[in-house]
Amino acid sequence: MKIFLDTADVAEIREYAASGLVDGVTTNPSLAAKTGRDYGESLKEICAIIPGSVSAEVLATDFDGMMKEGKAVSKIGKQITIKVPLTWDGLKACKAFSSEGLQVNVTLCFSPVQAMMAAKAGATFISPFIGRVDDIGEDGMGLIRDIRAIYDNYGFKTEILAASVRHVQHVREAALAGADVSTIPVSVFKQLLSHPLTDKGLAAFVADAKKGNVTIKT
Ligand code: G3P
Repeated sequence: MKIFLDTADVAEIREYAASGLVDGVTTNPSLAAKTGRDYGESLKEICAIIPGSVSAEVLATDFDGMMKEGKAVSKIGKQITIKVPLTWDGLKACKAFSSEGLQVNVTLCFSPVQAMMAAKAGATFISPFIGRVDDIGEDGMGLIRDIRAIYDNYGFKTEILAASVRHVQHVREAALAGADVSTIPVSVFKQLLSHPLTDKGLAAFVADAKKGNVTIKT
């Protein structure tokens, strides 16, 4: 499964991309607003760090506005994926962009049928918001499983990008459900390797090596 960082914070992206384990980045207007910076400038800097997909979300909600903004952001870098909302205008723009060979991420997906329609519009990625589905007492992971089944039934190539991920268990379950990508906040990325037995085991290895004077010549 690919791991994307869900942030528009360039310093965070630089720090964690150094691990070599970040496959892409997703941004949205709320994340961009949190940085207090010019969105275009941030995207340019993110593209200089991340060779994989970088989602840049349009701000317009009408077809013509989305087309103008999408084309503008796509010029920032070849890895830009234009992010559009799951509306009629958004899917019309998705179809137009994908026909031109541009990558599109359709966001704000909350139902399997919405995801099917986005795939029919040629989306590169569909973003089901699992955390927000859980928040209203429904089954976020069930949404991922349903989309996986529909896409497999019909051979849709659209990648399932699990979004609105709140914790490591979401990542585990999304991987088991067959999501192609999880986009995660840095707080969750940092926890991906955490396990108390790893810490305890490493402390014991270090202590035993010291005690037994075990060394490696370099
Ligand atoms: O990628 C979409 C994501 O940022 C939404 O997450 O936590 O605002 O529901 P959240």
